[in-house]
Amino acid sequence: MGVMETDLLERRAQLQQEIDQLRREKDAVLLAHNYQLPEVQDVADFVGDSLALARYAVRCEARRIVLCGVAFMAETAAILAPDKQVLLPDLEAGCSLADSITAQQLAEWKAEHPDAVVVSYVNTSAAVKALSDYCCTSSNAVDVVNAIDPQREILFLPDFFLGSYVRRVTGRTNLYIWMGECHVHASILPEEMERRMEDHPDAQLLVHPECGCTTRALALPPQGREVRVLSTDAMLRHAKESHAQQFIVATEVGMLYRLSKENPQKAFLPADEKAICPFMKRITLEKVRDALADERYEIKLDPQIRERALLPLQRMVAIGGRPTNAE
Ligand code: 13P
Ligand code: SF4
Repeated sequence: MGVMETDLLERRAQLQQEIDQLRREKDAVLLAHNYQLPEVQDVADFVGDSLALARYAVRCEARRIVLCGVAFMAETAAILAPDKQVLLPDLEAGCSLADSITAQQLAEWKAEHPDAVVVSYVNTSAAVKALSDYCCTSSNAVDVVNAIDPQREILFLPDFFLGSYVRRVTGRTNLYIWMGECHVHASILPEEMERRMEDHPDAQLLVHPECGCTTRALALPPQGREVRVLSTDAMLRHAKESHAQQFIVATEVGMLYRLSKENPQKAFLPADEKAICPFMKRITLEKVRDALADERYEIKLDPQIRERALLPLQRMVAIGGRPTNAE
């Protein structure tokens, strides 16, 4: 091991110690999304997908939550657990998908469909959630839509690819979809994925429903190859249970760390190694330590928005959560 690498590991160990001490002093839990940097995942009390993080925030007993993820996840925790202080280590940890619809745009869309039920993906601002009837994540989007009266129109937002997938699985024709996208998942090109598949003919394909390549992946000739459309936690469950030894994973590359760590005997290959979310990667061990030490950055929400966003989020944590293609 080189000198630089030794220094880095010592620095990391030092930061982990400081974080451990601070989290005890501050009665805090660290929640990390599956796309976080490996060292942040390793120091977290709990690692999961958006739905699991929201559910954990509700049930944990700590006074403080440090949300190692992006802003909408911290806002969600703050809405669902108002008695806890929720800290986001970097306020610039946003989300291109959440930015693809504003509350004003949603209000205008609703005015065109006054009787429709609004289903918002959790990747939205608190103000958009406050105008919604239900929230969902990729883990339970199908279950949430299936829980709504089939006669009612649905406005599904903001992810076009997830919406199209949900429409296909549920067969609902009265579901209208916003044209938003996550720039990370949308840039995973079908051509890239297909090239990877040609190189690894025995690998199973795991695709996140936010991906632009989902439709093409599902339309591929079977050739004996399995294709699964799954949320990030569902990918973990599936990889553990499956007999396959090799997987091509179409989502943000942070996912590969946990998949490989929990299944050391299996191989996980990125569909596109450039699929890196710059917002998720803003959270570092230094920032987590500073968040705990200085109790920053505390999520504070307009009380009216918080109140109106609560019911759609409570519906989200209460409904379903099995893999999106209902294995
Ligand atoms: P899940 O964690 O719900 O699979 O969503 C992935 C994502 O893109 C979060 O930003
Ligand atoms: Fe948002 Fe996409 Fe990053 Fe997830 S991966 S936080 S959807 S920009």
